[in-house]
Amino acid sequence: MDLTALFKASYGLYVVSSKNADGKECGCVINTFTQVTAEPVQAIIAIHKDNVTTGAILESGLFAVTPFTQQADMKLIGRFGFRSSRDIEKFDGVASSVDQNGIRYLTECTAACYSCRVVNKIDVGTHYLFVASIENAEILSSDEVMTYAYYHAVKKGLTPPKASSYQPKQASKPAAPVEGKKKTFRCDVCGYTVEADNLPADYVCPVCKKGREHFVEVTE
Ligand SMILES: Cc1cc2nc3c(=O)[nH]c(=O)nc-3n(C[C@H](O)[C@H](O)[C@H](O)COP(=O)(O)O)c2cc1C
Repeated sequence: MDLTALFKASYGLYVVSSKNADGKECGCVINTFTQVTAEPVQAIIAIHKDNVTTGAILESGLFAVTPFTQQADMKLIGRFGFRSSRDIEKFDGVASSVDQNGIRYLTECTAACYSCRVVNKIDVGTHYLFVASIENAEILSSDEVMTYAYYHAVKKGLTPPKASSYQPKQASKPAAPVEGKKKTFRCDVCGYTVEADNLPADYVCPVCKKGREHFVEVTE
């Protein structure tokens, strides 16, 4: 089986957010949101059992989904997609609002908001599929939405192991030295690149917060 054939499937890129029984607000990036019926308006998401956001959805039965626009930078995507609500308050310092169900959702670089109520849960091993009724939908911006292909091709982002579509990474191309030109280092966790003569031992990735040992010198 050629698993790279699955790279031909198309997705968008979204933040799904929720609130647990203690009122903690959390959210994470998913690429697995799809509308499945028109009457009633229903959608599914696939979300990893270990994500803090998943626990909150199980407790509240509610979540909001917001598609990213192309303006979203890697720091914003990394905040929701490479870091956990166990370690940070995801909504601190970013623009957000609260929907009719009391669920906080990201308004920064997002095109719409779908307020969802869980109507079914399917256990698919590492992930749950939540089937939800969309109780409200509103447009937040007319900017182009970010597709998963755009995220890979233009943002040069990677996919972490908890994403449904994760595949083990290919080795980066080794760099050929060019005189007078700074080197490019790429984080092998999130894909962030930085140009420098060298990276100090205590360098921390600004997107996923991993250490210097995750940076590999690349040619492009
Ligand atoms: C590009 C991208 C796609 C992702 N897709 C999914 C997904 O479809 N399902 C999922 O459970 N996690 C996905 N993730 C991973 C979660 O966003 C990540 O594990 C996050 O840190 C969980 O945060 P939380 O613990 O605060 O819920 C994706 C991350 C990125 C960067």
